[in-house]
Amino acid sequence: MKYLVTGGCGFIGCNLVRFLLENRAGASVRILDALTYAGSLDNLGAAAEDARVEFIQGDICDAEAVRRAMGGCEGVIHLAAESHVDRSIFGAEAAVRTNFEGTFRVLEAAREVGIERFLHVSTDEVYGAAEGVSFDENAPLLARNPYSASKAGADTMARAYWITYGLPVLITRPANNYGPYQYPEKLVPLFVYKALRDEPLPVYGDGMQVRDWLHVDDHCRAMLAVLERGEPGEAYNIPAHNERPNLQTIRLILHELGKPESLITYVEDRPGHDVRYSMTGEKLAALGWRPEVDWEAGMRASVRWFAEHLDWLEASYARGKAFFEQWYRNR
Ligand code: NAD
Ligand code: TYD
Repeated sequence: MKYLVTGGCGFIGCNLVRFLLENRAGASVRILDALTYAGSLDNLGAAAEDARVEFIQGDICDAEAVRRAMGGCEGVIHLAAESHVDRSIFGAEAAVRTNFEGTFRVLEAAREVGIERFLHVSTDEVYGAAEGVSFDENAPLLARNPYSASKAGADTMARAYWITYGLPVLITRPANNYGPYQYPEKLVPLFVYKALRDEPLPVYGDGMQVRDWLHVDDHCRAMLAVLERGEPGEAYNIPAHNERPNLQTIRLILHELGKPESLITYVEDRPGHDVRYSMTGEKLAALGWRPEVDWEAGMRASVRWFAEHLDWLEASYARGKAFFEQWYRNR
C-alpha cells in the first residue's frame, strides 16, 4: 500500500515511517511535512535514503500542496500538528491553523483523490480532564486548552467527513507517548535535557497530575491495527494502562541518570492544567492489540536514548529556544 504520512518528520511520524518499512512488506511512504521547529529530516535517519520513502516539504494548510502530495496514495495517516499544550497557551493561532484548518485541507484532498483508508490521529486530551472516570469513545469532547480544543475540532471534522461524504475515516485517541525522537519540549526529553545539565526541573503545581504513558512502538502497532482492521467512521482510544503521577515519572528519570531529587523545583502551574487523562480501551483490544512495552523498562530505555543522543537533543532544543526562554522566564 502507498501511504501519505503527514508530519512524518516529527516524533511519532518518524517512528511510524520506520515501523512501516520494517513491518509491512510492499509499503511505500510519502511524507508531507513543513519541517517546523518540531520536525527534522535527521529524525528519519537511514529511512530518508530508503527508495520506498519520498519526502515533500509542504504545509498542510496549502490546499494545492496537499492535493499534489496525496495523488497516487491509497492510505493516509494524518499526524501533522502543533502538538504542544504550553505553546498553544502561549499563542493559540498556530494550533488552530494547523490542527483545525490543516486537518480540513487534508480531509478535503482525501475526498477529491478517493483515499481508501484515512487514519486521523486525535488525542485523549479531546475528552478533557478525567477526574474520577475513565472515558470511553462515546464520552463528550470537553477539551480545556487551545491545543486540545483545536484537536477536538479536527476530530469532529474528521467524523463529519465520514458521515457527510462517506470518506473512510478512522479516528484514534492515543494517550501520552514517550520514546526516541520526542521533541524536548515534552516532559520526558525536556527533563532529561535539563537534568543532564544539572538545571532545575520545572514541575507544574504539585506534580501529582496523572498521565497514561504509551510507548511509541506500542502506538505504531495500534495505529496500524486500526488502519487495517478498524471500522470506518469509528473512533478508537489507545490507552497504555500505565497511569502515573508526574512526580513518579520525574523521579524515575532522575534515578536513571544518577541525578539528585533536589533538582525538582515546583513552579507556577500551567493554566487549565488537566489533572488526569484516563481512557478505556475495549474497542482496540477487540482488534487484537495490547500494549507490550513495560512502563519502567521502556521509560528507562528512552531516558538512556536521549542521554546517548546528546547532539540530537541539543540541536532539537536549540530550534525551540526562543519559546523556552519566554515560557520558563518566570517559572
Ligand atoms: P511533533 O510535534 O513531534 O511532530 C509534528 C510534525 O508535524 C513535525 O514534523 C512538524 O514539522 C509537522 N508539522 C507541524 N505543522 C505542520 C504543517 N502546518 N504542515 C505540515 N507539517 C507540519 O508531534 P508528535 O508528538 O509526533 O504528534 C503527532 C500527532 O499525534 C499529532 O497530531 C498529535 O496531536 C498526536 N498525539 C501526540 C501525542 C504525544 O504524546 N506526542 C499524544 C496523542 C496524540
Ligand atoms: P507534556 O509532556 O507537555 O504533555 P501533555 O501536557 O500533553 O500531557 O506534559 C506532561 C505532564 O508534565 C503534564 O501534566 C504537564 C507536566 N509538565 C511539567 O510539570 N513541567 C513541564 O515543564 C512540562 C513541559 C510538563
